[in-house]
Amino acid sequence: MSRDGFGSKLGIIAAAAGSAVGLGNIYRFPCELGNNGGGAFLLVYLLIVLCLGVPVMLSEFIIGRRAQKNPIGAFKMLRPRSGWPVIGYMGVLCAFIIMAFYSTVAGWTLEYIVKAIGNQFHGKELSVIEQEFADFHDMGWKNVLWQAVFIFLTGFVVFKGVADGIEKYAKILMPVLVAILVVLGLRAVTLPGAKEGLTFLFKPDFSKITGSVLISALGQAFFSLSMGMGVLITYGSYIQKDDNLTTTALSVTLSDTLIAVLAGVVIFPAAFSFGVQPTAGMGLVFNTLPMIFNQMAGGYFFCIIFFVLLAVAALTSTISLLEVIVAYFVEELRMSRRWATVIASLGCMAIGVFASLSLKSDTGFTIAGLSFFDSLDFISAKVLLPIGALFIVIFVGWVMGKKTFNEEITNGGKLKLSIKSVIFFIIRYLAPLAIAVIFITGFV
Ligand code: PHE
Repeated sequence: MSRDGFGSKLGIIAAAAGSAVGLGNIYRFPCELGNNGGGAFLLVYLLIVLCLGVPVMLSEFIIGRRAQKNPIGAFKMLRPRSGWPVIGYMGVLCAFIIMAFYSTVAGWTLEYIVKAIGNQFHGKELSVIEQEFADFHDMGWKNVLWQAVFIFLTGFVVFKGVADGIEKYAKILMPVLVAILVVLGLRAVTLPGAKEGLTFLFKPDFSKITGSVLISALGQAFFSLSMGMGVLITYGSYIQKDDNLTTTALSVTLSDTLIAVLAGVVIFPAAFSFGVQPTAGMGLVFNTLPMIFNQMAGGYFFCIIFFVLLAVAALTSTISLLEVIVAYFVEELRMSRRWATVIASLGCMAIGVFASLSLKSDTGFTIAGLSFFDSLDFISAKVLLPIGALFIVIFVGWVMGKKTFNEEITNGGKLKLSIKSVIFFIIRYLAPLAIAVIFITGFV
């Protein structure tokens, strides 16, 4: 069976960056940072990305490209008759879980595009914008409808196939997103009272670093880089034999981190200036941004462009999530691509409905004090991704071993890479140790 592949070298970088950059950077990163002590969180986050980002990402690429298969098939092929495919199954489960709550927020971006076009934020006070956001959650059905539209869009692109489906969309839009964030950032830091926000973001208060901050930063790093559940194994399986895995991992990690920090520079100065609490969670993005556009020349147009770009960024992420499930259905369960896409989308929708509805103020649908939405977020980012990443680095560092690692990373000796021993050392010793220690401190 011939497999889809990425047509050009930029293709795979764009697709992996498309998966990485999304709501995780612009909505989840500020939420986590705001709830976990600001600058202290940023510092821990950057350290984790710096030490673990490239090594974990490379490990996934190596597994995928070596095996040329979906996450479950890959472990089955590389270690037949072993327990390793469980990691792949966990990844597919995780794809369903993330898809279910992620598509809720993705759906909101569509609602906000419509609002932006209708100029519905114009001239409004913060309190009104906040109230309208809360009212929107209480209209459960509307959230579900937008969510369904978003999942349908995702299914449509995935059905069209990897190479032509994803590449086209991701290539052009990422630089535009960076540009608009820079413009917004310039506006945000010149608002009255913005300095406090910058202090909150960049000045670490070391006393705030707790076990829960560590695990939140770890979870956010994996979530933002799409690591630990097989997206990058699946994309790795589409990478050509002569592509440079290390530079790909490096570019993806750098661009993703740049966009997250930029989002912070936009959100926090503005939030402090308008009086949005840093712990406001979703409101940080969905209430603060319309307020910034209200204070900007050309705000009407910037607002539309921004939410369109945010929706597209979310789409290239949901595509990668659905692709994991579809690749598994097609390759392991021998379904046609069409049916695989339909069934996977319906499955995501079936869980997703409950995620959306659990945000209504009157549902009382909670698990251990968290809404169903937050429970899905918690289980995936703080439990499944760290465990997945832990076993992925153990697999590459201890099961596949140094010889295979070197072969993959140098494309069979064709590329020179002076730091390959350092990277292997991190994969074999440092990464498993760091993930395990943070995971344990986070929960004890
Ligand atoms: N990395 C994506 C984002 O930041 C979310 C995602 C997580 C996508 C895990 C795939 C897998 O928006």
